Amino acid sequence: MKKILLLIFATLLNIFGISAQKPNTEWFEDARFGMFIHFGPYSVLGAGEWNMDTWPITKSEYAPLQQIFNPQAFDPAAWVKTAKDGGMKYIVVTSRHHDGFSMWDTKQSEWKITNTPYGKDILKQLADECKKQDIKLGFYYSLLDWNRDDYQWTTGRTGHKAGRDSTKINWDSYISFMKTQLTELLINYGDVAIIWFDGHWDQTEEDNRTSYATKADWHYDEIYGLIHTLQPNCLVANNHHLPPIKGEDYQVFERDVPGTNESGLSGQEISRLPLETCNTMNKSWGWYITDDDWKSPAEIIRLLVKTAATGANLLMNVGPMPNGVIPPECVTRLKTVGQWLEKYGQSIYATKQGVVTPQSWGVSTQKGNTVYIHILDVNTKELNIKIPNIKSAKFLNLPDKLVWKKDKKSGNVHFALPEKLDEINTVIECKI
Ligand code: GLC
Repeated sequence: MKKILLLIFATLLNIFGISAQKPNTEWFEDARFGMFIHFGPYSVLGAGEWNMDTWPITKSEYAPLQQIFNPQAFDPAAWVKTAKDGGMKYIVVTSRHHDGFSMWDTKQSEWKITNTPYGKDILKQLADECKKQDIKLGFYYSLLDWNRDDYQWTTGRTGHKAGRDSTKINWDSYISFMKTQLTELLINYGDVAIIWFDGHWDQTEEDNRTSYATKADWHYDEIYGLIHTLQPNCLVANNHHLPPIKGEDYQVFERDVPGTNESGLSGQEISRLPLETCNTMNKSWGWYITDDDWKSPAEIIRLLVKTAATGANLLMNVGPMPNGVIPPECVTRLKTVGQWLEKYGQSIYATKQGVVTPQSWGVSTQKGNTVYIHILDVNTKELNIKIPNIKSAKFLNLPDKLVWKKDKKSGNVHFALPEKLDEINTVIECKI
């Protein structure tokens, strides 16, 4: 009864356009490192999460996965432990990916985890465990759908080979389905830290970085309003590859440190909102049996450092195997990253972009009057940089005494560096 009243109240507030106050993003900006989890029936196929569209597989061919998907070894405590051991401060898990399969006991569809032989609600177990272990949990939610007949797939760039009947498209019904599903997620799973949307780009002419034109009206105003009304502190994010729109609480980048565009999925203007970039530990989001192109722990640490130096969070992905276990390759890597953070995390957590802009030798982060210089190029012999009002400087992770002096005329600080620098990242801590 309480839930129904809450829902009516939220709907009324929405109708009258009463928007909730801005959610608190402080925890998010302090967090700097989060875990992304891609898990669903696609994991059974061991080939990422796009196989329904790329092989392609029709929805009737894909349907038996519901009878096969049975993650018996799923242990929410083990997932949370892996995140915590990695020094990660939040988790974003796929609640429903592009194949439209719901990882919770939704009342809006039969295409869901509780209709598999496994039969249990994955999100509920994970939400309870996150609460118990005091780590924030957010839900990835796909806007596009390769399974539902009412989704407007004819104007979309994907999902054309799913074997759907175009006469069954009903956009109003699809929007209302999404709103009801999001309501379920926001009233039945405790505090939801983030709703992380993906798939907007399905309805754009091309995957561009500037035009907001879309072939489908996503009703963002209503959807974002609903989220903020049901949970005023839930952050709304959208991986639309564009600068944020009204109602979004932070800006998402995909596979790129903000300001770089190596993946070809970034290059959009950087907003003043908090930032996050997501990335993969090998090349894939969903479990991919032949993908052993793992980033080394050092590479992950350096990516995290470079990301933090732009004032952004890194949401690092793991793709659990079909039995529900996070691949050991991920677990061991994250453990090493976590050990590094345990020792030197003060140069990452709760920092902002530092006074020294990214250079060929490395980057900087800053917390109050402490500036952290991160030297990522081991061949660096000396540094000549501007750090206004420097008072002291020392190595955070080398035993050597740091030799430095300030040139009165230029104001530059000169650091003479030892022969052997740290292989991962030499950190200098400066007080200003
Ligand atoms: C892309 C992919 C999707 C993945 C996401 C993660 O949008 O379509 O499969 O979940 O990136 O950022």
